[in-house]
Amino acid sequence: MNPFDLPIKRIEELVEEHGTPLYIVSKSKLIENFNRLNNALPAANLFYAVKANPHEGILEILHEAGADFDVASKGEIIAAIKAGANPEKDLIFADTVKIPKQIAFADGVGVDDFTYDNESEIIKLAKHAPNAKVHLRIAVSNKGSVAQLSKKFGAKPEDAMYLLEKAKKAGLRPDGISFHVGSQCLDSSRYVEALNTTKEIFVEAEKRGMKLNQVDIGGGFPVKYINEEINIEKMCEIITSTYNKLFDESVRLVAEPGRSIVGDAMISVTEVVGESVRNDKNWLYLDDGLFGSFLEVFLYNMKFPMKTNTTGPLNKYILAGPTCDCIDVISRDENGKECEVELPKMKMYDLLIAGSMGAYTFSESTRFNGHEPPKFVYIE
Ligand SMILES: Cc1ncc(COP(=O)(O)O)c(C=O)c1O
Repeated sequence: MNPFDLPIKRIEELVEEHGTPLYIVSKSKLIENFNRLNNALPAANLFYAVKANPHEGILEILHEAGADFDVASKGEIIAAIKAGANPEKDLIFADTVKIPKQIAFADGVGVDDFTYDNESEIIKLAKHAPNAKVHLRIAVSNKGSVAQLSKKFGAKPEDAMYLLEKAKKAGLRPDGISFHVGSQCLDSSRYVEALNTTKEIFVEAEKRGMKLNQVDIGGGFPVKYINEEINIEKMCEIITSTYNKLFDESVRLVAEPGRSIVGDAMISVTEVVGESVRNDKNWLYLDDGLFGSFLEVFLYNMKFPMKTNTTGPLNKYILAGPTCDCIDVISRDENGKECEVELPKMKMYDLLIAGSMGAYTFSESTRFNGHEPPKFVYIE
């Protein structure tokens, strides 16, 4: 079940036992999300993007369910191996700009699948992971997606041939193409366009005597926060039929979903730890905030569904985190400006429950002011 639908009484019991701030993860929802995408993309091998949420329980559950892992650092490689992954078969080091020492570490433990998008990365890979299998990431349209990843990553498609040949000459094994349509992508045409561009590169590479074997469609699959209309099955049906039309069976399909697997499998519970009235507005201070689990509110104007364990008339509140920084306000409008939200009347020690808190919350939380991230509790 979506843990946001847990009865309030059950949430209060868990808080009584474990305290706040608290993450509650539904194991069954996590597995359901993984299986759902796995079934909807029957041709694809799913590499869960560890960056979305690297908590050990989550990695263990997903490994058991059959997931492989997209890793982006030495820390994520260690976490994935600890969860049971075989570095040689189950990991893609999918950050296109890697720290040289971490490439050597990855190579040393057996990782043999790296992503790159520039010449300097080829030199680093050839030096620290000679003869490795590599995938070239291309920049594709991220229009409409929440995180515009192609601003920072991906080679121009017109540079693909040069970079593939360069990698080959450097002794690496160019194996395929990867892309990312941007996180929280709501439009399947982004995948269709990117697959068409990828096909053109496959054809050109073959003409030049280089057979490519793998298409990695990255992540980007969306999760429901508040009002999004999401149909994962339909989206995947469009991706699958485009892939089937463009590529034959010898071409492997890979995806690196993060947000869609873990997003709505976890909620957070925070407690009111302070109240004040400032400029005639009611402020509530919580024991988790922008520097903790809610950084995406600031980075991407994300809006999480919220409810309380209180009843009664609605009041307007500005919601702030516990740190000493004035930017630590989690109630913000679509332009990122601080705003009031309406919630049933709250006071000290009441609970604020936020839904769809699984992705890019724990993994992005800082330790500013010495605040530790929430404790994890797994249910079912
Ligand atoms: C290389 C790569 N793969 C996969 C993902 C996961 O994307 P998402 O969480 O949108 O599924 C990301 C996210 O930044 C990424 O950078």
